[in-house]
Amino acid sequence: MAKIEGSRVLVTGGSSGIGRATCIELAKRGAILALTARRLKTLRKVSDEIKDAFPDVQAPLLIPCDVSDREDAIKLVKKCVDHLGGIDILINNAGIGVYGKAEMTALDDFRSVMEVNFFGSVNLILEVLPHMKKTGGGLIINIASVAAMHGVPYMGAYCASKAALVALSQSLRAELATSGISIMIVYPGYTQTNFFRVEKKVGGARRPAGRYVPAKKVARSIVNAIENERQDLVLTLEGKALKFSKVFIPWLAEGAMQRIAYKLADKKEV
Ligand SMILES: NC(=O)c1ccc[n+]([C@@H]2O[C@H](COP(=O)([O-])OP(=O)(O)OC[C@H]3O[C@@H](n4cnc5c(N)ncnc54)[C@H](OP(=O)(O)O)[C@@H]3O)[C@@H](O)[C@H]2O)c1
Repeated sequence: MAKIEGSRVLVTGGSSGIGRATCIELAKRGAILALTARRLKTLRKVSDEIKDAFPDVQAPLLIPCDVSDREDAIKLVKKCVDHLGGIDILINNAGIGVYGKAEMTALDDFRSVMEVNFFGSVNLILEVLPHMKKTGGGLIINIASVAAMHGVPYMGAYCASKAALVALSQSLRAELATSGISIMIVYPGYTQTNFFRVEKKVGGARRPAGRYVPAKKVARSIVNAIENERQDLVLTLEGKALKFSKVFIPWLAEGAMQRIAYKLADKKEV
């Protein structure tokens, strides 16, 4: 069982949603936190919440950073290592979405989602790995999505970015197998966060009503998975069903995607 108390954890996208809830859960279990996101003001709010709720835990280190900016990412990791003496766990959680028909998604929107969700994680992995290698251990957690398992209608750019992150994680896992550094992939399903308010809507479809899991529940599962040294964490019943059907009854998954595409299509556009 891995120990969280005293571990130095860098969380990207720590100011909101799953990242914020994970930081609170980690603080509860005694982790030493470094939080990052672009907006310092929102990071401060989370930090104040943590300090109020857990006065005995070391105050979080707050470093504003755009993970898609290489120079920002280099400075972020350097500051973390300078202040905390190292990084034991990196949680690549910062992410954005684009929703709507792939044919209505501009090339720049495809690029921006890849820049944050994929290259943002790559930026940090490349910076953190040498430090973890020096100490001979560490854990990198990449927050993917159930949408990384199969292309979901109207989420093409997003699915591609998360599938790329999963593939990279699996390559790294094999390459680092004897290094003492572990890679965990998390596949959250629909979660109640600001994500859907912030995502760019390009048109052609509506969002499903769906059941949304509280971010706190997702955070608890992630932190339990760290303690239990899990490699993969698939969340929600829909996520588990998709994983199963994709392998054992692939035609069912394909059929379901086509039905979803038809149901959610903006009928004016069809
Ligand atoms: N919500 C869901 O249903 C769901 C499902 C599956 C997977 N996920 C994944 O879970 C992760 C967290 O999402 P969430 O739902 O918690 O969304 P959220 O509430 O919108 O939080 C996103 C976080 O990422 C930060 N962020 C965005 N762009 C950034 C950038 N360029 N550089 C640094 N930080 C950036 C945001 O802060 P700033 O705006 O201040 O930068 C914020 O802290 C994402 O990777 C998302 O894809 C979410």
